[in-house]
Amino acid sequence: MSLTVYAPASMGNVGVGFDLLGAALAPIDGSLLGDRVSISSADAGIHLSLAGHWADKLPQNPQDNIVYQCADFFLKQLNRKDGLALVLEKNLPVGSGLGSSASSVVAAIYALNEYFDNPYDEQALLRLMGEFEGKISGSVHYDNVAPSYLGGMQLMLGTQSKLCDAIPTFDDWYWLVAYPGISLSTAKMRDLLPKQYDKSVAIDFGRYLSAFVHASYQQDPKLAISVLKDVLAEPYRAAAIPGYEESRAALAEIGMLTSGISGSGPTLFSITDNLQTAKKAQTWLEENYLQQGGFSHICKIDVQGTRRTD
Ligand code: HSE
Repeated sequence: MSLTVYAPASMGNVGVGFDLLGAALAPIDGSLLGDRVSISSADAGIHLSLAGHWADKLPQNPQDNIVYQCADFFLKQLNRKDGLALVLEKNLPVGSGLGSSASSVVAAIYALNEYFDNPYDEQALLRLMGEFEGKISGSVHYDNVAPSYLGGMQLMLGTQSKLCDAIPTFDDWYWLVAYPGISLSTAKMRDLLPKQYDKSVAIDFGRYLSAFVHASYQQDPKLAISVLKDVLAEPYRAAAIPGYEESRAALAEIGMLTSGISGSGPTLFSITDNLQTAKKAQTWLEENYLQQGGFSHICKIDVQGTRRTD
C-alpha cells in the first residue's frame, strides 16, 4: 500500500476575516502550489525523507518535523506497530503567509487517515490538523488548515458540531499572490497585534466581515471589494513587511481592486477580475516587491482542497 496526498497553499484571513476566513489557492497555469506527503510501508519505525525546493529550510532531525510527529501520533492512537516510510515534498516556503505549515500538516494527516482506513471523520481530522498546525504557529487557528483540507473559501463557525463551512466565491476574480522571498514567523507577527481593540474597531471588524459574507452570498463583487478591509492586523503588520505599503499603493494605481496581507505575511495578495491587469500587476511586483527566492502566481480559488495524487 502506498499513497500520495497534495494539500494546496492557503491564504489566511483574506484581509477581512482575521483568524475566521481562509481560502485555498490554485495557480491558473495548473502548477501545484502546495506540499505533498507520500506514505508506504517500511521496516519497523518511522522513516521520513525530505524532497522539494524548500526542504533545506526544515529541521534536519526527522523527529522535529511535524509530519513525523503526525505519524507518531497516529501509530500511538491506533495502537499500531507498522513501519512507515514517509516523504514530505516541501513546495512552500516556511514563514511565507501561504499556509506552509498547514499544507504539510493537512497532507500528512489526510494521508495517514487514508493509509489506516479512515479512522477519523472530517470534523475530528480538522481538529487534529488545527492542533498540529498550532504547535508550529504558536496558537490554534483554522483559517489555513480548513481551506487547505476542504478547499474553497471557508468561514470559521467554531461550534462543537461544525468548525467551518464554505461560503460562495466570485468565480471571475483572480488572486495574485506575491511571496517576496523573506521568512516571517507567524508567532512574531501575532505578537505585533494589540491585546485589546477599541470598541469602534470591533464594530468596524464585525461590519466589514459580515458585509463581505453577505456580498458573497448576494454575488455583489462591488460591495465585497468595498468592505474587504483589514482593521485588526494590517495596521500593525504592514510596516514589518518591506515594500508592502508602496506595493499596495502601486497596485491600486495599476487598477487592482484591492490588496492585502496573505496570512501573517510577507506574501501579499491582490484581486482583479481582469487577467491583463493581473499580469501587469504581477510584472510590477516581480520587478519591485520580490527579492531573491521570491515568486508570484496568478490564482483562482482551489475548490478541491486536499486530494490523493497517486
Ligand atoms: N490568521 C493567522 C494570522 C494566519 O494572521 O496570524 C497565519 O497563520
